[in-house]
Amino acid sequence: MFVRETQLVIRGNKKLSGKVKISAAKNSVLKLLAASILAETPVKIADVPRIYDVLLMLELLQHLGAHINWNKNHVEVVPVFNHFHADYDLVSKMRASILVLGPLLARYGRASVALPGGCNIGHRKIDYHIRGLEALGAIIEFEAGYIKAQAPRGLKGAFIDLPLPSVGATENLLMAAALAQGTTVIENAAREPEIVDLANFLKKMGAKIEGAGTSRIEIEGVSSLKGTDFRPIPDRIEAGTFIAAALSTGSELTITNVIPEHLGFVLKKFEEAGALFKIGKNWIKVLPSGRLAGVDIATFPYPGFPTDLQPLAMAVLTLAEGISVITENIFDNRFLHADELVRMGAKIEVTGKHAVIYGTESLTGVPVRAMDLRGGAALVVAGLAASGITIVHDAYHIFRGYENFEEKLASIGADIERVEVNA
Ligand code: EPU
Repeated sequence: MFVRETQLVIRGNKKLSGKVKISAAKNSVLKLLAASILAETPVKIADVPRIYDVLLMLELLQHLGAHINWNKNHVEVVPVFNHFHADYDLVSKMRASILVLGPLLARYGRASVALPGGCNIGHRKIDYHIRGLEALGAIIEFEAGYIKAQAPRGLKGAFIDLPLPSVGATENLLMAAALAQGTTVIENAAREPEIVDLANFLKKMGAKIEGAGTSRIEIEGVSSLKGTDFRPIPDRIEAGTFIAAALSTGSELTITNVIPEHLGFVLKKFEEAGALFKIGKNWIKVLPSGRLAGVDIATFPYPGFPTDLQPLAMAVLTLAEGISVITENIFDNRFLHADELVRMGAKIEVTGKHAVIYGTESLTGVPVRAMDLRGGAALVVAGLAASGITIVHDAYHIFRGYENFEEKLASIGADIERVEVNA
């Protein structure tokens, strides 16, 4: 029997030019959708990207009872939840499914969510989510691969000090605390722009939240939240991906619908390597800069260099002059793209959390395999710069997070096509 496989085929070594518009942030939209569980009336979210992960979250909400209505690219969630069990089938396909746990518990007092299982980029534990919800009064048990949580008398505000500024734990606890009785303080909270977006969304629903975007968030629980309309922030990681595509190909490219300050550290790092940018209120123009120089990059929670752009930076730096060292501090297995880049002619040595990149003058197109979302996008960026044909196998990883990826690239001059083959 044949299995259909999606590939991206790139004929590289071509300049890009023109403008590309960034979609709404995947990592914000997923949380806004989970937060719709808290609402008593319908929620409307604008500009929702039709990417696999968003479609999976919508499927999960439907599975829990919600009605979903698409109107062009706007989504309405009608919160009529009557099922509180998130199956392994859905959760194992997308780890962000764990984000329904806090809202279900807060609004309905019970939830069972499958343990997400393995992940290509590292262990990705959820202990901070669990401990935080327990601090809010939830009773949690693990049974037959499921997290079974109850809060029969509702959640109660608490002081929670996160050991690390986990994005997902901050979000789960923020959503749960919005409907808890009393005050919750999340100390050492994540500060990512997507957290601020979620807090703004919850505030529009009637939540009382202060400090989102700082490492101390204070939430005064309210008894109910209403539906609202909301437009999510643009995707800073998609923007960074197109910046990487422009840099690897030495192109002039304008990226629109972006909040440049969300990429502050990224732009600074690429400038250190010799990149030239012109920056407007909601656009970034990448100017041709000649060959970049190697730089050292270490990933950190926001506002540091984002781990999600580490593979993209690696693709760019394979072609820089001199040596670069990338240190991955967030995930323990996020270098799977390195061996694929080596197959294209890159010189990279990985030891533990460090990757040393010896810049080379050119890359060659070969068949490569996407192992995860951002690593897959990095192979495309390398393929755009490589001579010859790059075939990225298992490209479905990329479509989890990038809307109309090959269409957008083709519109700025890339020779790229999506093909379905029998594997
Ligand atoms: N961690 C724990 N225990 C926890 C939670 C996290 O040990 O309970 C550890 C993780 O194992 C990891 C680190 O803390 O090593 C950071 O994890 P975090 O919780 O911050 O990440 P996440 O919420 O699972 C989100 C994004 C990721 C992004 C990270 C870091 C979504 C849906 N995912 O994941 O995005 O890499 O934050 O910024 O928002 C992607 O879009 O490609 C992607 C992987």
